[in-house]
Amino acid sequence: MFLRCLSTLVLLLLGALGAAAKDAKPVVNHCLECHAAFDGKLGDPARQFPDDIHATRGLTCADCHGGNPSQEDAEKAMDRKQGFRGVPKRSEIPQLCARCHSDGAFMRAYNPSLRTDQLTQYGTSVHGKRLRAGDTRVAVCSDCHSPHSIRPASSPLSTVHAPQIPMTCGRCHADPMRMKPYGIPTNQLDDYRGSVHYQTLTGGDLSAPTCATCHGNHGAAPPGVASIERVCGTCHVFQEQLFDQSPHKAPWQAAKIAACLTCHGNHRVEHTGDALLGTGGESLCLRCHAKDDAGGKTAQRIYADLTGLDSNLGDAAAVLDRAERAGMEVGEARLTLSNGREKLIKARVDVHTMIPARVEQNTEEGRKLALQAQQAGQQALAEYAYRRKGLALSLIAIAFVVGTLWLLIRSIERRPPAGEEVTRP
Ligand code: HEC
Ligand code: HEC
Ligand code: HEC
Ligand code: HEC
Ligand code: HEC
Ligand code: HEC
Ligand code: HEC
Ligand code: HEC
Ligand code: HEC
Repeated sequence: MFLRCLSTLVLLLLGALGAAAKDAKPVVNHCLECHAAFDGKLGDPARQFPDDIHATRGLTCADCHGGNPSQEDAEKAMDRKQGFRGVPKRSEIPQLCARCHSDGAFMRAYNPSLRTDQLTQYGTSVHGKRLRAGDTRVAVCSDCHSPHSIRPASSPLSTVHAPQIPMTCGRCHADPMRMKPYGIPTNQLDDYRGSVHYQTLTGGDLSAPTCATCHGNHGAAPPGVASIERVCGTCHVFQEQLFDQSPHKAPWQAAKIAACLTCHGNHRVEHTGDALLGTGGESLCLRCHAKDDAGGKTAQRIYADLTGLDSNLGDAAAVLDRAERAGMEVGEARLTLSNGREKLIKARVDVHTMIPARVEQNTEEGRKLALQAQQAGQQALAEYAYRRKGLALSLIAIAFVVGTLWLLIRSIERRPPAGEEVTRP
């Protein structure tokens, strides 16, 4: 019985496999077979292709290069009269890829959620515009998507997976020879690698921006001055809103000074800190303001406020540490302290208003919380001291009792037992 079931199952399986084989495209892809036997440029595409998304979706060499894969003979397979295209010219590649990728009906059959606007977007990019004008040094589809090992962007092996993008763009943009004719800098990759954004990205947080987040991928172009704030503001929402309320907004707009990057840079965005508002070498504000003009004074007032709260929080934390080391329970005070820290974080965001009163709203509340936590810590320490005093007193009392008892026992031992004098010689 069991064997009969098993053999029916096997037969069914074989039947299904046979049907699948009949449906599939050419059984042998002679382009791949023949090319895989070559070394180097002729063979590499064939070796890479089996893992390419186009291969896994059943497409073949001929879908891009033309020709007839069912022909074993080289001449017949690669017959230009039969539509073989050979290696496409760089200027033709966007059209070649777009034949499918801009065809909504065709692509929907494979993946309805895939966008089909890559060619349109590409046309708006600096790359696309220059290609149209005959410059073939710019990026075409196959520069960013390695043509025989294309994978979905979500695959860590894809050249357009977020952590890979800096190298994909940097291959050209960090190459001084390639970029020489244009006279634009080639330090973007280097600078970006020194940024908090890169650090965050390589730390595994894919929410950090890469080249393509700020410039666009297919529509890659430098953001104009007016839109830089928007680019940064897509993630740093509050800073953008508060900047718009600052006294810088109108005069900077009029003078075409770009919002965020004037203070933070574009590629090498670094960690910030209160020192940016101070008067030391890191000072941002003194790059444009004098110490005693309205901007300089504002900077000092905000600086004093933030560093003041920071040191209050530090003092409170030190007291709580001591209380905790002494074994006292200060969990509630710790919570108060961390609420105080929240206020400091908020106040640092409020800096973007450049209005001291706005910053003070949060630092004032923070200071109260720091003080509350510190007092709770001091109370705990006082209680600890009180308990220690009590303990010392009871120890003295116990010592006194033990001592008295001991004296008592000694005096009992020393007393001669009755009748001893009688037996002495
Ligand atoms: C029997 C072997 C063989 C078969 C089958 C074959 N090729 Fe080739 N292919 C070659 C050789 C050899 C060359 C290099 C000489 C030449 O350009 O003719 C070549 C060259 C090419 C080139 C580069 C042409 C250039 O201008 O540099 C492409 C692209 C190519 N083949 C694609 C294909 C495709 C697509 C198919 C299937 C439709 C195919 N080949 C089938 C052997 C083969
Ligand atoms: C998705 C489209 C696509 C598919 C599928 C494809 N190719 Fe290509 N192939 C290209 C493009 C685009 C180029 C030009 C490469 C470039 O610009 O670097 C190219 C270049 C080549 C070259 C020349 C390599 C060189 O460095 O000169 C060969 C050979 C080749 N392909 C063979 C194949 C073979 C064999 C297959 C199937 C196993 C295949 N291609 C599948 C798009 C494709
Ligand atoms: C300057 C580099 C660059 C060029 C040129 C480029 N791409 Fe892309 N492409 C990317 C990046 C980066 C992504 C990943 C987008 C993401 O993660 O959302 C991508 C994603 C894609 C996707 C996945 C769907 C999507 O739109 O996110 C397709 C399909 C695609 N590209 C096709 C093309 C075609 C076709 C061309 C040529 C017309 C092209 N690409 C040119 C960089 C490029
Ligand atoms: C014959 C039609 C055809 C041609 C030509 C073609 N593609 Fe594709 N491409 C597809 C199909 C179908 C898929 C699979 C979509 C899916 O299932 O997700 C795909 C997938 C992709 C993806 C992955 C999209 C994702 O899921 O993130 C990229 C990137 C891509 N193609 C780029 C290219 C580039 C670059 C070229 C030109 C060198 C090209 N394609 C030429 C049909 C084509
Ligand atoms: C194949 C080489 C190549 C690749 C890959 C490449 N680019 Fe470019 N890119 C160029 C060239 C060449 C220019 C033209 C420079 C110019 O016009 O100033 C350019 C121009 C630009 C510009 C306009 C610069 C300006 O101010 O004129 C931006 C922005 C840009 N690329 C971003 C990117 C991004 C982002 C990527 C990766 C997703 C990328 N590029 C990948 C070659 C490349
Ligand atoms: C956080 C956003 C951001 C990231 C990430 C980013 N850029 Fe930029 N990029 C900008 C801004 C903003 C400008 C300046 C525009 C201006 O000054 O008008 C710029 C300018 C450029 C330019 C024009 C030349 C120049 O240096 O001024 C190129 C080329 C460029 N970036 C390429 C890249 C490449 C390549 C990467 C990745 C290695 C990258 N960018 C990452 C925001 C970014
Ligand atoms: C795609 C989202 C995104 C974009 C766009 C973006 N950032 Fe960031 N940024 C992040 C993330 C994520 C971090 C790291 C986590 C954090 O500190 O918030 C970060 C960190 C920062 C920091 C450091 C904060 C600190 O002190 O630790 C600054 C400053 C900064 N970004 C400024 C900018 C500027 C200026 C721009 C525009 C040129 C920009 N960001 C564009 C997501 C983004
Ligand atoms: C006039 C200079 C200036 C401008 C313009 C500016 N920032 Fe800042 N930014 C600062 C200073 C100063 C700090 C540090 C505050 C501190 O830690 O005391 C800071 C801190 C930050 C931080 C770290 C988190 C925080 O808020 O403490 C981020 C993120 C940030 N800025 C993003 C932006 C973005 C996005 C823009 C554009 C909308 C922008 N900044 C415009 C001066 C500026
Ligand atoms: C790129 C130059 C630049 C930097 C950097 C800069 N400012 Fe300004 N600031 C200006 C300009 C321009 C004005 C408008 C003209 C004026 O009042 O001097 C202004 C105005 C102000 C005002 C309003 C002054 C008034 O008269 O009402 C304040 C407050 C201010 N800035 C604070 C700051 C602080 C705080 C920093 C550092 C975080 C800073 N600024 C950094 C250029 C700058």
